[in-house]
Amino acid sequence: MVREAQPVRIRTRAETLGSPDGNGVADATMPTTGPLVDAFGRIHRDLRISVTDRCNLRCTYCMPEEGVVFLPRQEVLSYEEITRVAAAAHRLGVTTVRLSGGEPLLRQHLHRLVGYLSGVGFEDIAATTNGMFLAARAAELRDAGLNRVNVSCDSLDPEQFARIRRGGHLATVLAAMDAAEVAGLTPVKVNVVLVAGINDGEVEAFAAFGRETGRTVRFIEFMPLDASGTWDRSLVVAAGEVVERIGSRWPLEPVPDQEGGPAVRYRYRDGAGEVGVIASVTQPFCGSCDRLRLTADGNVRNCLFAHEEISVRDILRGDQVGDGAIETALRRAVWRKRAGHGIGEPDFTRPRRTMSMIGG
Ligand code: 5AD
Ligand code: SF4
Repeated sequence: MVREAQPVRIRTRAETLGSPDGNGVADATMPTTGPLVDAFGRIHRDLRISVTDRCNLRCTYCMPEEGVVFLPRQEVLSYEEITRVAAAAHRLGVTTVRLSGGEPLLRQHLHRLVGYLSGVGFEDIAATTNGMFLAARAAELRDAGLNRVNVSCDSLDPEQFARIRRGGHLATVLAAMDAAEVAGLTPVKVNVVLVAGINDGEVEAFAAFGRETGRTVRFIEFMPLDASGTWDRSLVVAAGEVVERIGSRWPLEPVPDQEGGPAVRYRYRDGAGEVGVIASVTQPFCGSCDRLRLTADGNVRNCLFAHEEISVRDILRGDQVGDGAIETALRRAVWRKRAGHGIGEPDFTRPRRTMSMIGG
């Protein structure tokens, strides 16, 4: 059945999450047909879905050690609700989805959601996980239609690993990577957030690990999204420095014809695979960003660093239910996207939500 677009009240979260940070372009000029485009012509193809704000770890660069207040269960979208939003995004040209959290595998029966999303017809369904619960569930996720996983791992030393992540076991996470490969969730990528003075000494060790295992290691610059607010520019390990260090040991060359994703990809000249860097702070990729995000409580965010969100939960749970209204909310969120995140500019302010609340 084709539903008519209904006039609905779209409540922005501007009142509660700070002042609106739109790009100054009036909503009246927003296109109502065609793909999801913003006022700068960027077409959006990638939807990041946070399925929960909960996590079993408390990584120092992400969550506080204690006192985290999680969303009440009834505020979190059901799998059916998430699927309706994802299907609306798919109709507007979104081709890839990534499940994240918090820790997405803390949601029970995650494979059910993967199955629903698979039915929508996305080209690629991926997940980002801390790997602690992955090994036992890799096969059921793969069977449901998950294509691949990124596993976070910030140290190859068990004690350092547990210090950075305030818990977790390196061995479990390494075993999860093996299990993911056996299940066919490939290629497995390994996300390493580098923090100066903490784990920046492990760049070469991680590069060697990637070369030996054939996994693509991606070094991520520390972003001001940590709950404890300790982020400082001096803690960022510049991607350029990382590439230089690895390249001086094992010569590298840029991967030709790469699409404008967040990771800049390099390959080893001796054929031992690839390595990537995500230079969100020192070389922002905002100009080619094609992502939008759905938070666990049903808000559409156009950027990790946005101050404004648009609730689709109100539409999903309101009585004027119509998928046209969901599409309009997605269009509006994308249309209001700013040109860039502005980290480093004098008027930059951190978003109130931190990484575990937004989804990576
Ligand atoms: N800066 C950079 N990356 C972060 N992540 C979590 N917090 C931060 C931060 N402050 C990463 C995790 C994971 C992904 C979801 O986001 O390591 O790989
Ligand atoms: Fe959890 Fe991931 Fe945040 Fe670590 S980075 S606390 S694993 S959500």
